[in-house]
Amino acid sequence: MPLAPARYDHCLVTGASAGIGWAFALELAARGARRLTVVARREERLVELAARLGAGRASPSPEVRPVVVDLAEPDGPGRLVEALRREGAPPVDLLVSNAGFGRYGAFILRPWDDHRRMYQLNMLTPAELVHALWDELTAVPGRGVIHVASTAAFQPIPYFASYAATKAFLRSLSDGLWGEARPAGARVLALCPGPVPTEFGQVAGTSFRVRKVSTGADRVVREALDAYERGRAEVIPGFTNRVMRCAVRLVPLRLVLWGATKVAGVQRPG
Ligand SMILES: NC(=O)c1ccc[n+]([C@@H]2O[C@H](COP(=O)([O-])OP(=O)(O)OC[C@H]3O[C@@H](n4cnc5c(N)ncnc54)[C@H](OP(=O)(O)O)[C@@H]3O)[C@@H](O)[C@H]2O)c1
Repeated sequence: MPLAPARYDHCLVTGASAGIGWAFALELAARGARRLTVVARREERLVELAARLGAGRASPSPEVRPVVVDLAEPDGPGRLVEALRREGAPPVDLLVSNAGFGRYGAFILRPWDDHRRMYQLNMLTPAELVHALWDELTAVPGRGVIHVASTAAFQPIPYFASYAATKAFLRSLSDGLWGEARPAGARVLALCPGPVPTEFGQVAGTSFRVRKVSTGADRVVREALDAYERGRAEVIPGFTNRVMRCAVRLVPLRLVLWGATKVAGVQRPG
C-alpha cells in the first residue's frame, strides 16, 4: 500500500541549537512546517534560530516554540513531553531525535558520568520520546520519526567505543520500529551520517581532519528528508560513506577493528 504524503505541520527537533538539528529546522520550515518545537540547553541559540526562521522565505513563517531542557538527565524526556502537554501543543507530525554527543578517548579514562550522560542522551532519551509520542505518531498516516544515528552504528570503534555502541542501539531500535509503524502508515528513518562539520568534533574532543570526506549538514538533512518521504528505513548520506559501509560488511571484524584502532589511535587519547 502506498504511504500517505509526509506531514510536517508540527515538527519536534531535539538538538536544534547547532549543526544537523539547526539544519533540520531550516529545511522543515522550507518544506512547509507550520509549528516547530525546537529543543536544546542553549536558549539564546534557540531564540536566534526562531528569529532566523521568522525572517526566512517560508510564507507564512512557522511558529517556533523553544523548549530548554537537558535531555542527558533521566527526567529530560519527561519534562519535554510535559512542556508539550502544558502548552496544549497539537500532535507531533514528525519527531526528529537528533540531540547527541560523543567523547573521544580510552573508555576507562573517561569519567563514568560522561558515559552515563551519553547513554541517556543518545539511547534512552530517543527511546522514551518515541514511546511517549507513539500513539499520536501512528494515529494519522503520514506522521513519523527520524532518529539521527551515525555510520558509527555499523562497527565498533576503539577510543569511541561508548559512542559507537549508542548509535548501534539507536539504529537497531529505529529499524525495528520501522516494521511496527508501517501498518499504521507511519515512517521511521535511521539517518546514518558520516563526518559532518558541526560542533560535534569540538564537543567530542577530537581533532580528526575530516573536511575532505565530510558532508555538509544541509545536504545530510535534504537527503534524510527525501529518504523519509520515500518511506525508507535507513539512509547513509554521501557516496564515500556508503562505500565504507559495504566494505565493513565484507571485511572480517578483526581487520575492521585493526583499521579503526589505527585511525582512532593516532589521536593519543587521554
Ligand atoms: N557531526 C558529525 O560528524 C556526526 C556524524 C554522525 C552522526 N552525528 C549525530 O548527529 C547528531 C547531531 O550532532 P551535530 O553534529 O549536529 O553536533 P552539534 O553541532 O554538537 O549539535 C548537537 C546538538 O545537540 C544538543 N545537545 C547536546 N547535549 C544536549 C543535552 N544534554 N540536552 C539537550 N540537547 C543537547 C546541542 O544543543 P545544546 O548544547 O544547546 O544543548 C546541539 O543542538 C548527534 O546525535 C550526533 O551523534 C553527527
